[in-house]
Amino acid sequence: MIGLGEGENFLGSDVAAFVEHTRNALAIGQDEIVAITPEGVEVTDFSGAPVEVEPFEVTWDASAAEKGGWSSFMAKEVSEEPEAVANTLRGRIHEGQVEIPELDGMDEFLADIDRILVIACGTAAYAGMVGKYALETWTRVPVDVELAHEFRYRDPVLSARTLVVSISQSGETMDTLMAVKYARSRGAKTLSICNTQGATIPRESDAIVYTHAGPEVAVASTKAFVAQITALYLLALHVGRVRGAIDPVVAVEAVTELEAVPGKIARVLETEQSRIEQLAHWMADTRSVLFLGRNVGYPIALEGALKLKELAYIHAEGFAAGELKHGPIALIEPGQPVFVVVPSPRGSGEMHKKVVSNIEEIRARGARVIAIAEEGDVAVLPAADEVLRIPLAAPLFEPLLAVVPLHIFAMGLAEAKGLDVDQPRNLAKSVTVE
Ligand code: G6P
Repeated sequence: MIGLGEGENFLGSDVAAFVEHTRNALAIGQDEIVAITPEGVEVTDFSGAPVEVEPFEVTWDASAAEKGGWSSFMAKEVSEEPEAVANTLRGRIHEGQVEIPELDGMDEFLADIDRILVIACGTAAYAGMVGKYALETWTRVPVDVELAHEFRYRDPVLSARTLVVSISQSGETMDTLMAVKYARSRGAKTLSICNTQGATIPRESDAIVYTHAGPEVAVASTKAFVAQITALYLLALHVGRVRGAIDPVVAVEAVTELEAVPGKIARVLETEQSRIEQLAHWMADTRSVLFLGRNVGYPIALEGALKLKELAYIHAEGFAAGELKHGPIALIEPGQPVFVVVPSPRGSGEMHKKVVSNIEEIRARGARVIAIAEEGDVAVLPAADEVLRIPLAAPLFEPLLAVVPLHIFAMGLAEAKGLDVDQPRNLAKSVTVE
């Protein structure tokens, strides 16, 4: 990506690298050569023939890529999680119905798909795992989620009726890009969920649904994660409507839930942030942390563990709570901290009971349990050492709230250890190699 300044020009992996200096950008294609000087930029192909590239204006405002008064970009970006969701919803809900203007003209294809394959890496892949529940519930199309680098090196079954959804904050992750190209070459249609305007993956895809989380500067992804889940839910509601697979009443309820998410995330930040930071401070010497979740809470457990590895360099594992008895319970010894994402006790409450019984099992073996449970859930109180509260939401929407305490915790623990949360060791924001 090239940034065009005045008497200065920039070369970066994505526009976030130079948006504080200029908002005029050029996207460079494959097999092109760029000669860049302070005075000018020249793009040619390998034979030296000039290539015409249309500049575009980045819509992010420059201050969005500045730290402002925050101690780190990550602290700022976690605080922006409510807006990341709200901005991703904006313009896509009309009279209680989801309509994604970017997908105009695709109704016939979407009505006919027989499979959805989600490909991504890292945090984006966990967003995809959350999205699977909503996509299957509302579209009744089977969904698989796969790590992009694994997908490419086998012989996947794809057809013209497969929709391949890639998710990438940067839009430059090489593993994901190569997987998109591969899917396209095998006849599938590709849709990119991306946070960065003009990035390579959306340019290489048949359709784009941008998340509008604003520039994410800290290497580990936070606000983009909640925006990605939001975009997937919008996609699921859009496709569900086009296919006639979702009951209109259910669709309206889902939209109401989605619109309430930003306010609820803001409440988690307001009421729980300082408690979680204190907890993280007390746990600064912890060497290993486990995370358990069930159903939509399972990918959240994985995301909680990944953030802790990335930011605090602590050994952390996420497990499906039901899998505990099949192995991971052997890891539990006195004092072992375990975060448990507890599903709501409302509705049938069946999953809630099972997870509470998981908590009792690990507690009996000496685990130190930190539960993330909805307000008013008293059943967790006797079993948990700490309870972090999230507002009431329908089950599919709980991940958007339950992840917030885990982001705060990982950031708080890294800070308590004196680590740089924006630039963790050995990691890069845009991984442009395979
Ligand atoms: C890197 C980052 C992760 C991110 C992953 C995927 O590994 O450190 O935070 O989740 O890339 O990035 P993408 O830009 O494709 O979402």
